[in-house]
Amino acid sequence: MLIAQITDLHIGAGRRLAYRKVDTAGALENAVRHVMALDPRPDIVLFTGDIGDLGTAEEYGLVRDILRGLTIPYYMVPGNHDRREPLRTAFPQAIPVTADQPFLQYVIDDFPVRLIGLDTLDEGMPGGKLCAARLDWLRHELAIATDRPRLIFMHHPPVLTGIRHMDVQNLGDGADELGGLLRKSDGVIGLICGHVHRAIHCVWQGVPISIGPSVAHQVALDVRPDGPSAFIMEPPAMHLHFWSPQQGLMTHTSYIGHFDGPYPFFDENGNLIV
Ligand SMILES: [Fe+2]
Ligand SMILES: [Fe+2]
Repeated sequence: MLIAQITDLHIGAGRRLAYRKVDTAGALENAVRHVMALDPRPDIVLFTGDIGDLGTAEEYGLVRDILRGLTIPYYMVPGNHDRREPLRTAFPQAIPVTADQPFLQYVIDDFPVRLIGLDTLDEGMPGGKLCAARLDWLRHELAIATDRPRLIFMHHPPVLTGIRHMDVQNLGDGADELGGLLRKSDGVIGLICGHVHRAIHCVWQGVPISIGPSVAHQVALDVRPDGPSAFIMEPPAMHLHFWSPQQGLMTHTSYIGHFDGPYPFFDENGNLIV
């Protein structure tokens, strides 16, 4: 099974540049072309939040237009830049919850890996939250007996990355409880997040965590305690999560853009090119 993770699109209405600098609509178009050209093609695309920049219907209308080119099944969870109701209304297929449900969290059960989408949005706040209702739902889902592995996808990471201005807006309330659930649950093979706009990997509570790079702009790597809040135009990228029963989960970073190569290591006679 191959999962493409697209995160932190930050689309502005009317193709407005993010922070007066970043052509996020163009970046999403590039990301769609990139994912559609992959061979093998992913089975599914997971969007891990910050779909819009201000969370308006206009922004999500533009995202919908661009995603017409994406013919692979895709699902979304919200980030702090999103708003639930306009997002759910714009993407009913990608967010399979009914209007009376307060949170955009759900399970995708059509694949060898059970995919659990978590809603960490605390609307209007930059940091994330898992309240008692959301944690109860997760506790119930994790208690369901299954012989399939489970992968959780969500926006805010529950860990500190060392990038201080992002760490103060990670998953706050509910992170300890989430950790407790992971410690007690079998078969959670990973937790994939967005929000930090960089490829970052660690193990937390015995579970591998990977944070995906943005398909638009990256957060500058600065681990000084007083490092300023800043972004950098390092290459846009997405994570590709391969899962097989033999190997488990393997995460690759796939850069979006035109790069020199690939060049062969060996000539036509099978000799190493020196
Ligand atoms: Fe973001
Ligand atoms: Fe975010």
